[in-house]
Amino acid sequence: MTKRVAILISGSGSNMVSLVKSMTGDHPARAALVLSNNPDAAGLAKAQALGIPTKVIDHRPFGKDRAGFEGALLTAVTDAQPDIICLAGFMRILTPDFIAAWEGKMLNIHPSLLPKYKGLNTHARTIAAGDREHGCSVHEVTAELDGGPVLGQTIIDVAADDTAESLAARLLPLEHDLYAKVLRRFAAGDRSKIITRA
Ligand code: GAR
Repeated sequence: MTKRVAILISGSGSNMVSLVKSMTGDHPARAALVLSNNPDAAGLAKAQALGIPTKVIDHRPFGKDRAGFEGALLTAVTDAQPDIICLAGFMRILTPDFIAAWEGKMLNIHPSLLPKYKGLNTHARTIAAGDREHGCSVHEVTAELDGGPVLGQTIIDVAADDTAESLAARLLPLEHDLYAKVLRRFAAGDRSKIITRA
């Protein structure tokens, strides 16, 4: 049975595009929905151009009512009957209740070598720390922010003249490759780790 994948985005959606494009041929999954909390996310038009149904659940009208937002999010996601949820640049923190409903079925891409640099500004923090290596991670989503089991990592060297911007630019295409590879394995029931040095 082909698995159905819902992809949650907030911005440009380049990882989403890579995932959607990867799910062809004998791939065990297909994209069923692209959902954004941001009505202005550039990724929405990209998903539509790829023929994927899109939905927007704008978090702003909910204000501090996080449970209300997540209730609407959960309904929208559940309607698409996904087997797997991929967070791809989705910049809202999910509550443990939402995560519990999808634990073991939800992946995220994060621009650091987890467990280093959970949260935001990962490239700048890498430079500030003087690290010689950086990278990206795909992990299962658990209640601990950016803390679930790592399923794949791509490692790059940090050059003396690197900046947060140059690291981000070099890493993004590697994120695309890694996420597509991990999703393919995950959809086939394979949770073995993929570690690559670029
Ligand atoms: C990616 O670099 C992704 O790793 C990062 O946001 C960017 C989204 O780009 N995610 C996080 O920082 C999650 N904490 P995209 O919208 O072009 O895929």
